[in-house]
Amino acid sequence: MKFFIDTANLAEIKEAYDLGVLDGVTTNPSLMAKEGISGDAAVKAHYKAICDIVDANVSAEVIATDFEGMIREGKELAKIDDKIVVKIPMIKDGVKALKYFSSEGIRTNCTLVFSAGQALLAAKAGASYVSPFIGRLDDIAYDGLELIEQIVHIYHTYAYETEVLAASVRHTMHLIKCAEIGADVVTCPLKVITGLLGHPLTDKGLEQFLADHAKVNKK
Ligand code: G3P
Repeated sequence: MKFFIDTANLAEIKEAYDLGVLDGVTTNPSLMAKEGISGDAAVKAHYKAICDIVDANVSAEVIATDFEGMIREGKELAKIDDKIVVKIPMIKDGVKALKYFSSEGIRTNCTLVFSAGQALLAAKAGASYVSPFIGRLDDIAYDGLELIEQIVHIYHTYAYETEVLAASVRHTMHLIKCAEIGADVVTCPLKVITGLLGHPLTDKGLEQFLADHAKVNKK
């Protein structure tokens, strides 16, 4: 399973990349705003800065919601770097834009997906990735992981090439369950990735190993 980091924070992206387990980066307009990035030139420069940190793909989201606008913005984003994947919302014109970019060989990530029907449309339109939002479904008492399972099953049944990118992953159990279910990718904050590290028996065991080594290696 691939690990993407869901942030526009350069320090966090670098930290995750330096760990050696990062396969990509996803951003969205809210994450860019959180970093205080505004204005076309600054947004593009920030995407370029992310691309320069990682040897991995970087999802950059369009703001337009009409077909022509999404095509114009998507082409501009794709020009920034070969690593850019154009992120398109799951709306009617978005489906058309996914189809267009697919025919042009530009990779896409279909975002704001909350149902199997939407995921089916994204795959049929040729999206490279589909992003179902697990946490936001859980927030309103729907089962986000069940949706991932459903989409993985449908895509396998029909051998769709679209990768299931579980998004809105809020904690380590989300990530582990996604791995069990067979999601192709998870995107999550840095703390979810580093949260996989800790175990009290690891700490206890290491402490013991070092103490035993020290006992027989006194100066
Ligand atoms: O990038 C989209 C998604 O991962 C957002 O997550 O936590 O804001 O629902 P969240």
